[in-house]
Amino acid sequence: MTPSALANKLKHFSDMPLLEARWILTEIQDEKKIQSVLRRRQKGEPLSKILGHKGFWKGDFITSKDVLDPRSDSETLIEAVLKTLPDTSLPYSFADIGTGTGCLLISLLMEYQNAKAVGYDVSEKAIKIARKNAKKNNTKAKFICKNMCDINDSFDFAVSNPPYIPTKDIVELALNVRQYDPLLALDGGKDGLDYYRILSHIQKIPLLFLEIGKGQKASIVKIFKKEKWHLLSAHKDLAKITRVLIFQKRLVKNKKLF
Ligand SMILES: C[S@@+](CC[C@H](N)C(=O)[O-])C[C@H]1O[C@@H](n2cnc3c(N)ncnc32)[C@H](O)[C@@H]1O
Repeated sequence: MTPSALANKLKHFSDMPLLEARWILTEIQDEKKIQSVLRRRQKGEPLSKILGHKGFWKGDFITSKDVLDPRSDSETLIEAVLKTLPDTSLPYSFADIGTGTGCLLISLLMEYQNAKAVGYDVSEKAIKIARKNAKKNNTKAKFICKNMCDINDSFDFAVSNPPYIPTKDIVELALNVRQYDPLLALDGGKDGLDYYRILSHIQKIPLLFLEIGKGQKASIVKIFKKEKWHLLSAHKDLAKITRVLIFQKRLVKNKKLF
């Protein structure tokens, strides 16, 4: 089958039919298998879930029904870290809180080659996938299954893309997100902000890079200011939506980071 013939079959189910057709054909040549991919795609399953992996930043990440697919919006967070901490040779220690596939942590380790990192997730299945992804992308990191409420270790900084969708909005989400990504990765509680309240109480990490949802900036700044954090900067994604907030706190033993 040619890419354009396959794209034609995908056009009612995909926003990028030609791109998806090319992706399918680079991985699958068997006609029966292509038809099976088409059937699953027609039911709304994302191509990344069908093929089991997705590109993010400079890497390729295994994905499954147990983890949120890496999203291009989240690359804003990687860019924000690089802009804030431009010396990529420094031996930073950092945490990724709610690591999922590990895409944030692993992408940062590709840039900060002397850094040491720990990825935390409450889902044991996510931790297993993150470990595989670290290996697949030739990076070394520690992954620990832990509830973010219980994190009490010291790091130079942390990144986090916590679940931030208000519970009532989950039913309105696109089928491919609601049905194929785990609820645990999406549901941010009644107003979507439960996990930011938890993160605002972190004690031994002086710098936090947080992905946020559309329109959440003001409420999240309020939550963090209450806990004596200072908003260092805010960063927009390609759609001009504020996607990343950076908070800093003066700790007794703060060392100079940048
Ligand atoms: C929105 S996903 C982000 C995944 C990945 N960091 C990314 O950016 O693609 C949020 C992650 O937080 C994890 N999570 C949910 N509740 C948690 C908790 N209480 N403690 C630690 N991780 C949690 C979920 O399992 C999920 O992997």
